[in-house]
Amino acid sequence: MPFYDEKSLDVMIDADQIAARVAELGAEITDAYRDRGELVLVGVLKGSFVFLADLARAVDLPVDIDFLGVSSYGDAEESSGVVRLTRDLSRPIEGKHVILVEDIVDTGLTMQYLLDMFATRKPASIEVASLLHKPARSKVDVPIHYLGFTIEDAFVVGYGLDMGGKLRNLPFIGVNRAEGRPW
Ligand code: IMP
Repeated sequence: MPFYDEKSLDVMIDADQIAARVAELGAEITDAYRDRGELVLVGVLKGSFVFLADLARAVDLPVDIDFLGVSSYGDAEESSGVVRLTRDLSRPIEGKHVILVEDIVDTGLTMQYLLDMFATRKPASIEVASLLHKPARSKVDVPIHYLGFTIEDAFVVGYGLDMGGKLRNLPFIGVNRAEGRPW
């Protein structure tokens, strides 16, 4: 018996679809960054941890991994528009190629804030990889160089994405069709 209510949680993107797309993105990154110098994959905590773990293993290059923490939502489902850095990188990125790895670009406010902040640190280049994009809710246009899937305007969970801190460990992207929490 799964821990969640299967009747209220619909599968939007299943684990096989995710795996196939992540493999493609990994191959694209491998081709794009081969022989270009040091590459750092920077995961935006917490939501990116599952995607980053899979993406990093799909990249056939000696990448460095780092994390930063931001908080924009708290436990609410709506963005406050205020982004706060809760954990900084462990090493400087000056002169390095950086890919910021996100679970989802929703309003775009978090990614915009991070791109502006990182530009001042003089990386050799900076690009964005996001598993999901919800264009219907976009408030600022941010470039997503490596995009997994464009999705409809729904609150999604799983594969790193949470609802009230839970459901990050679902192996698929799901959407809650019922009122209330699906556990
Ligand atoms: P943005 O700043 O509005 O682009 O949102 C960035 C963050 O909001 C993401 O990294 C997620 O943590 C969270 N978020 C946005 N949409 C969803 C969703 O549908 N499910 C879970 N988290 C979401």
